[in-house]
Amino acid sequence: MSDIDTAVRLLRTGRLVALPTETVYGLGADASSPEAVARIFAAKGRPADHPLIVHIPAADHLDRWAREIPQAARLLAQRFWPGPLTLILKRQPQVPDAITGGQDTVGLRVPAHPLALQLLRAFDSGIAAPSANRFGRISPTTADHVREELGDRVDLVLDGGPCTVGIESTILDLSGPVYAVLRPGAITAQQIADTLGQAVSGATPAAPRVSGSLEAHYAPTTPMELVPAGQLPARIDTLVSAGLRVAVLSQAAFAGNDKTLRQQAPEDAAGYARTLYGTLRKLDHQGVARILVEAPPDTPEWLAIRDRLRRAARGSGE
Ligand code: TXA
Ligand code: MG
Repeated sequence: MSDIDTAVRLLRTGRLVALPTETVYGLGADASSPEAVARIFAAKGRPADHPLIVHIPAADHLDRWAREIPQAARLLAQRFWPGPLTLILKRQPQVPDAITGGQDTVGLRVPAHPLALQLLRAFDSGIAAPSANRFGRISPTTADHVREELGDRVDLVLDGGPCTVGIESTILDLSGPVYAVLRPGAITAQQIADTLGQAVSGATPAAPRVSGSLEAHYAPTTPMELVPAGQLPARIDTLVSAGLRVAVLSQAAFAGNDKTLRQQAPEDAAGYARTLYGTLRKLDHQGVARILVEAPPDTPEWLAIRDRLRRAARGSGE
């Protein structure tokens, strides 16, 4: 039996299958089964009122999960699916409350990974899948990371190699009169606006709950600081003078010593995103007292990365 057949069989019996996507690995379960979905929350240690994204094989499955679908959703699906964009739409009544966190909306996405698509087509229904990490920790971008996070809490891990995007999908709320980006990702607000021919807003405090919007998220256990580029040498100096060992993720080179472990950061946003979580995970295992990350540029293409870094720093060291 192929891995896909095994995975489909497991999903149909309410079990958990970790699957690769282009963004991060997901912890998948049959989205139409409240019992199966409950296993996701148990495995992650995730609060039950946090809604999950439903992954579908193609845009023609939209109507099974969502209702009153605006033309904007069809346009964006056509332009960006399969791809790292999640659309929040009004839900069909039969979508389990466990998926939506009791809200009247559902998040939907077609992932751009050949193995995920093969699995979704064979399953021919929705797979609910949050990132396959324990709640609040760094999202996994390889099959090994998933095993490290969840061990035998997951029944099967499909290994699709390292994720090519590396950070979670852009989440766009299309369920109300004002279209709003709830979580920035590789697909920018500008790309969405260009496709729709209208501006979309950034996250607002009134926006629906998004667990990725909790401050303590994507976090290493080593205390981590985000440092403005110009202040990096002084900050390193202060910590090292106090006898601490530090790991430094920076684009700029600096004069290190035996108390500093330097990791070169990619110059391009796509490369940075692809390697970000794996790098944080690696630095978190170095036994240093502090991880210092040079703040990347303050431009739109770095927005999603700065968002993840800020939250990682906020939630680190716990
Ligand atoms: O790239 C991704 O989106 C990955 C891969 C596996 O697809 N998934 C992911 O799932 O990041 P998760 O659960 O870690 O984050 C999903 C986010 C959560 O912050 C959740 O609150 C939000 O999506 N979400 C899901 N349904 C929602 C809804 N109906 N309204 C508002 N936010 C929703
Ligand atoms: Mg997550």
